[in-house]
Amino acid sequence: MRDSGEAGKMALLADAGITVSKEGLAMAGVPLAHLAREVGTPVYVYNAETIRRQFRALEAAFATIPHRVCYAVKANSNLAVLRLMHDLGAGADLVSAGEMRRALAAGFSAQSLVFSGVGKTAEELEETVSAGIGQVNVESLEELKLLGAVAARLDRTTSVGIRVNPDVTTDTHPYISTSHGGIKFGVPHDQVRAAADYVRDHPYLRLTAVAMHLGSQLLDPAPYAEALGKLVALVKALRAGGVSTLESLDIGGGLGIRYQPGAGPGMDPAALAAVVGPLAAEAGLPVTMEPGRFLVGSAGVLLTEVLYRKHSGGRDFVIVDAAMNDLLRPSLYKAHHEIVEVVPAGRPAGPVDVVGPICETGDFLALERTLPKVEPGERLAALCAGAYGFAMSSNYNTRGRAAEVIVDGGRWAVVRPRESVDSLFASEVADPFATLSDNG
Ligand code: LLP
Repeated sequence: MRDSGEAGKMALLADAGITVSKEGLAMAGVPLAHLAREVGTPVYVYNAETIRRQFRALEAAFATIPHRVCYAVKANSNLAVLRLMHDLGAGADLVSAGEMRRALAAGFSAQSLVFSGVGKTAEELEETVSAGIGQVNVESLEELKLLGAVAARLDRTTSVGIRVNPDVTTDTHPYISTSHGGIKFGVPHDQVRAAADYVRDHPYLRLTAVAMHLGSQLLDPAPYAEALGKLVALVKALRAGGVSTLESLDIGGGLGIRYQPGAGPGMDPAALAAVVGPLAAEAGLPVTMEPGRFLVGSAGVLLTEVLYRKHSGGRDFVIVDAAMNDLLRPSLYKAHHEIVEVVPAGRPAGPVDVVGPICETGDFLALERTLPKVEPGERLAALCAGAYGFAMSSNYNTRGRAAEVIVDGGRWAVVRPRESVDSLFASEVADPFATLSDNG
């Protein structure tokens, strides 16, 4: 039986690699209260060993299937996390030239990188092609033509994946569902042939992959089976049409994790491998995967301090120092992030809204959540914040972005200091009227 109470909470903590003792929560042996004191709040804390555990679980599940894991940098692009992925043997999946610069800075070879995304600019294609990027996944005929022109101008033969929109439905939030008809992602099925012909006839392009990305936070392997079946049929048709350069089937990312007590443990990588393996074998191609959340989501927490309590309009509010600029997912997707005390004190619990200091009613970390009666100065942790947490944070309300810390084997390091407020406007012009230029 699934438990939405204490046992469910313990399962979430175990997912993160957090242990609980009388002194409170500890990650890799480092008390979270100590980190909050030393570094201040809000602060993101990532568990290196949990990231390794997730990577190894995926590797083990796919052990008998020729494959490579390209970590989706967008989920958490801190250089320390990227270095960890690199050292584990991953490649990387990028959505901007900026992410390529990060990946190169963290030690990835250009050859181990895949550049995906629906709106790559000419400058980004130039930068990535001249760096010798491993593969560019194109999403439209127009982009493909631009890529061809860039590759020719730079005299660099470039490997191309065609990201197909397989037109399957997935059970996830509509904002992160990316594979049905009528959305911006992928090349529609009926345009793939034309794209493949264009690559075949281009002297500087090689068609090395057929790619898809179904959506994010997927818990069921069934849509992968359906979509990959379509991709394999496409591979056969392309080969029948003379394409002989394919080197991989790119199945994208999307593997979901557990966010709520009482939820199942997330995507079972073995169940995914069981549907992917036979289809990849049928196509005779190795698999490329682009997981983000699965590798880093559970491994991170956001620590925040309680500032005030307030009772208004029949509701109890806990006002904390982290806000929607730090963790946007609750406001944007109504996503559930479990909130726990950093040092549990065994007090009675009641329903509260956990809200931040930002000037919007939509600024909350949790609504109608049962929490013990915490006092100002105490700390809370939002769990499952390692993916799309800091990466989606902003400076809204002129708030410096949170610090980031990594813990490993009982030790810890600040891997990105808290952003200073002065740095947020240091490049702005305080007296623009002295610097206006003439029209033309
Ligand atoms: N590959 C491509 C082409 C993608 O667009 C994405 C995510 C991934 C891989 C990695 O997906 P993952 O394995 O992490 O599910 N901000 C949202 C998630 C947006 C995902 C965008 N694309 C959230 O907070 O849930």
